[in-house]
Formats: sequence, C-alpha cells, structure tokens
Amino acid sequence: MKIESMTSVAAILSVMATTGQADVVTYATGAAGNAIEVLEALVAPWEEETGHTVEIVTMPASSTDQFGQYRLWLAAENGDIDLYQTDVIWAPQLADHFVDLTDVASDLAPLHFPSIIESQTVNGKLVALPLMTDAPALYYRIDLLEAYGYDAPSTWEEMTAIAQEIQDAERAAGNDDLWGFVWQGNAYEGLTCNGLEFVSSFGGGQIIEPDGTISINNPNAVAAIELAASWVGAISPEGVLAYQEEDARGIWQAGNAVFMRNWPYAYGLGNDEGSAVKGLFDVAPLPTGGDHDTSAATLGGWNVAVSRYSDNQDVAISLARYLAGEEAQRARTLMASTLPTIVSLYDDAEIGETLPIIPRWKDVFLQAVPRPSAPTKGSYNEVSSLFWTAVHNTLSGQGSAAENLEILEADLTDLRGDSW
Ligand code: GLC
Repeated sequence: MKIESMTSVAAILSVMATTGQADVVTYATGAAGNAIEVLEALVAPWEEETGHTVEIVTMPASSTDQFGQYRLWLAAENGDIDLYQTDVIWAPQLADHFVDLTDVASDLAPLHFPSIIESQTVNGKLVALPLMTDAPALYYRIDLLEAYGYDAPSTWEEMTAIAQEIQDAERAAGNDDLWGFVWQGNAYEGLTCNGLEFVSSFGGGQIIEPDGTISINNPNAVAAIELAASWVGAISPEGVLAYQEEDARGIWQAGNAVFMRNWPYAYGLGNDEGSAVKGLFDVAPLPTGGDHDTSAATLGGWNVAVSRYSDNQDVAISLARYLAGEEAQRARTLMASTLPTIVSLYDDAEIGETLPIIPRWKDVFLQAVPRPSAPTKGSYNEVSSLFWTAVHNTLSGQGSAAENLEILEADLTDLRGDSW
C-alpha cells in the first residue's frame, strides 16, 4: 500500500483501518547508555497503535563509526534501512540521501527550537526531525569536593588543581583507583567536541568560524590543548586517549573519578539503583580557561531522517513524526535524561522535579558552540578528523600543540580549496 499524501499519524491510521496492512520499518541507531531499551519502549505505543513493527539495527556508539557505515549504505542506495538516527553535524553531508520533511512536519516544526530546525535544514530542505539536543556538563562529586572544602571549579586551571589534590590525598588514604578527571580522548568525533570546548573556553575560537575563516592556529588554542595534554597520566589515566563517552561513564559511575566531562544522558544513569555515585554528584557548566570568562559547551544532538531509498517512506515518516513529537520526547527525556528539542518541555513540572539538569541546561544548550559543519559543508567529516588527529597527537606526546596546530592549519587550507 502506498499512501500518496500523508500529513499525520491519524491519516495513516485511517487508511490502515480499512486495509489492515502491517509493515516492518528498519531504524538504524547508535547505542550508548540505555539508548536501545529506551527506543524499544518509545516505539511500543506507536507499534500498538499502527500495527506496524520497528526493527532496530544497532550500530556502534561512536558517531564516527556510524557515519562511516551510513555513508557507505547511502552511497550504495541501500533500501534496507528506512530511518537513520543522525548526528546534528551530518545534515549538510547526507542531505541528498534523505526525504524532504518540510511539508509533513509543518505542524510539528514550530514546536521545536528554531535553531535546531535550522541546523537540519539544508538549502530549504528539512533533512531530519529533531529527537534530542545535547550540551555537556562538568560532573563533580559533591561528597569529595565538600570533604576538601571546594565548590565546583569555574576555571580549567582550578579544576586541574582540585582534581590533583583530591586524587593525591585519596590515593594516599588507600583509594587507589581514584582519578581526578575522565573525559573523551579517543581519536573520533567525541574528541572534536572535547577539543572544541577546551579551545573555545580559552577564547581560541571555533576551529573554523561561521564565515569559513580557518582560525585554529592561535595562542589561546595552543594553551588550551597544552593544558589538556598535561592531564594525561596525571589527573586522567593514560587510557583516556582511548576513551569514548561510555568508558568515561564506566569509571565515573564506579565511583572512581572526581570530575567527568559528559553529556546529560549520564545524569539519569548515574542516579540509577546500583550506581556507586547515586545521589553523590551534581553538574556544573564546563569551566573557562586562561583570561577568557565564557564557558563553552559543544552543541550536540540527534535527529531522525527518512531514507530516499526506502520503499516504505510513508510509514517511516509516521514513525519519525511520532518520535520527534511531544509525547515521545517527554518519555525519552524521563527515561534517558536527554535534552528535549520541544520548547515547552523545559517547563514540564515532572521533568523539572525528577531531572533538575534539564531546565538548568536550557541556557547551556542555547549558548552552545556549534561544530563547523555548516561552513565546511560536505567536508565536515574530513575537517573534524584533521582536528581530532592534531589534538590526539598532542595529547599522546607526538609534537607540541603549536606544531600540530600549524600543520592542521596548512592541511585545512589545502582541504578548503574551493569547497567552502
Ligand atoms: C553526543 C552528541 C553528538 C556528538 C557525539 C560525539 O552523542 O550528541 O552530537 O557528535 O556525542 O561523541
């Protein structure tokens, strides 16, 4: 059955009521934290109402690994996947492979933050519907900070000193596994996020500015990355060079870190039964650095796109609309402590009471720093990979930040050519 013009779940339902056809749609998504259980729970009411089934195709947690696989499938015009869960940075690169959702979401789009809808709009085409936004926090252990007489640090330099002091004193007292700070130092998209935060919070810009200027080779960026390099093997384990979000959360949730940089999804999980840090932590905006006084959180987030190569586009659109809608976003927020993209949910009493981070994080996300995916268009993945490589090399002692940022600037200039 092909439904030619579908504007709402109600339209699908009324056609189905007469034909009774049930379809299976496939949904590809990465899996960090409890994401898969949450998605299964979220789609259940939609499956029940429509009679359709969602088959979840589980991908690696790393955004970089997902992107690599999706790009291959889409280039091959693979029709096996109907819906893709997409990172906020991918829209310009993958736009041609996805269905334009502008018309089918015309009633839904105004409920979302305009900046997020804009981030998913490429040349007037709405490429994906927002599911959640993201902006990281500095997680800190209230009990440990109180015991040593500190509040949450407001600068990276303070954070470094407090982490070192508590780590040293706790280890001397027999708490051998404690580390000062865990974060994401693996060579992947997550390091681009961490690196951009360090650089930007030191006043070192956004790697490539919104007007396309390559700005990364500057003294503030050098100072930021040098400070991060000094953490490795000191307040952060050497293994941080291979950590992604879930590795950092593992150490943190076992009670083995004073501070962690992570996204809001770690908040709910950290307060679950069985977490060693349940009730012992809070979150603060990421610190500032050097003489700069503005904190910088990288803007993240996930969306859902419908493949142009799907044979089941109408059913896929119905699912995308449902997942991006208020009911599913509210449920996702409560189950996964993710930031909704629907404006009104920041005033929801139950969300505010059970997850105080959500209303508190509205301004953090509204001021978050975007990665340069819009100005670099189809080249963002290469740009990001050059940046995280320069940062990773510095963190692992292969060249100084000044040397690596000079090489990076030259490589970005070559890559730019005529492409942005
Ligand atoms: C989070 C963010 C996403 C980012 C990723 C990097 O999932 O939401 O935008 O690319 O982390 O690891």
